[in-house]
Amino acid sequence: MSVQPRMILLGPPGSGKGTQAELLIAKYGIPQISTGDMLRAAVQAGGALGRDVEGMMRAGELVPDALILRLIRERLGAEDCAAGYLFDGFPRTIAQADGLREAGIGIAQVLLIRVDDEEIVRRLAGRRIHPASGRVYHLRNHPPRRAGLDDITSEPLVQRPDDREETVRRRLQVYHEWTEPLFDYYRTWSASAGEDGPRCLEMDGMRSIACVGAEIDRWLQQGRGPAPAGPAPTP
Ligand code: AP5
Repeated sequence: MSVQPRMILLGPPGSGKGTQAELLIAKYGIPQISTGDMLRAAVQAGGALGRDVEGMMRAGELVPDALILRLIRERLGAEDCAAGYLFDGFPRTIAQADGLREAGIGIAQVLLIRVDDEEIVRRLAGRRIHPASGRVYHLRNHPPRRAGLDDITSEPLVQRPDDREETVRRRLQVYHEWTEPLFDYYRTWSASAGEDGPRCLEMDGMRSIACVGAEIDRWLQQGRGPAPAGPAPTP
C-alpha cells in the first residue's frame, strides 16, 4: 500500500523525534518541519525574530503560539510540502493544534515516542548537533564517524545551549504540562472521525534508534494512506 506521510511526531525533548525524522525524510522524500530548527536558524541569523525568541529557548520555555503558527503557515506554502510533511516539535499546545486544524492542514499519522524523564536527561547530556543542518548525534548512542565533526560536511558539532540539565528539567515540566495532552487530543479526533481521522500510535522510545525506526516503518507500511485535507472535526 502506498504511504504518503503527513505526520506529527510527538514526544518529550530528547525522545528521538529529530533522529527518527532524519530517517523518515531520507526514506519518503518529504520535508521535516521542525519549529525548533526554524527558531534556532532565526537566532543564528541574528534578526528581530531571533532576538525575540532566544531568551525563551535558552530558558526552556515555549515561544508564543501566534508566532509559531505564522512560521508554519509560511513554511507550508513552499512547493516541497505538496507531497507530504513531517512535523517535528509542532504542535506543542492545544492552541497550536487548533490552529493547524482551522487552517485545514491534513494530518494522516500522529506518533508519540515515549521515554522516561531520567533517560531524557542522560540522552541530552550526550547530544551534539550540526547547527547548519540540524543533524543530530550522540557521544555514545549515535557517534559521528570522526569525533566532534559532522559526517557530511566535517564541520564542528556543538552542544545546544538548552541541553544543560536544569534547562532540560524545565523543558520536561513544560512538556508534561502543555504538550503531553496532545496525544489524547488526536486520539479523540481519530476515534470520532474514523477512517477520515489520523492514525495514532504510542510507542516505546526506550529501545535502540534502529528498533524504534523499524517499528515506525512497519506502522507506516500498514497505513491506509493519508487523511483527506480539509478541516477536521472538533475533537
Ligand atoms: P526543539 O528543537 O523542538 O526541541 P525538543 O522538542 O525539546 O526536542 P529535541 O530536539 O530536544 O529532542 P528530539 O526528540 O528531537 O531528540 P533527538 O532526536 O535530538 O525545541 C527547542 C525549543 O524551541 C523549545 O524548548 C521551545 O523553546 C522552542 N519551540 C520549538 N518548537 C516550538 C513550538 N511548536 N511551540 C513553542 N515553542 C517551540 O535525540 C536526543 C538525543 O538522543 C540525540 O543525541 C540522539 O542521538 C539520541 N537518541 C535518539 N534516539 C535514541 C534512542 N532510541 N536510543 C538512544 N539514544 C537516542
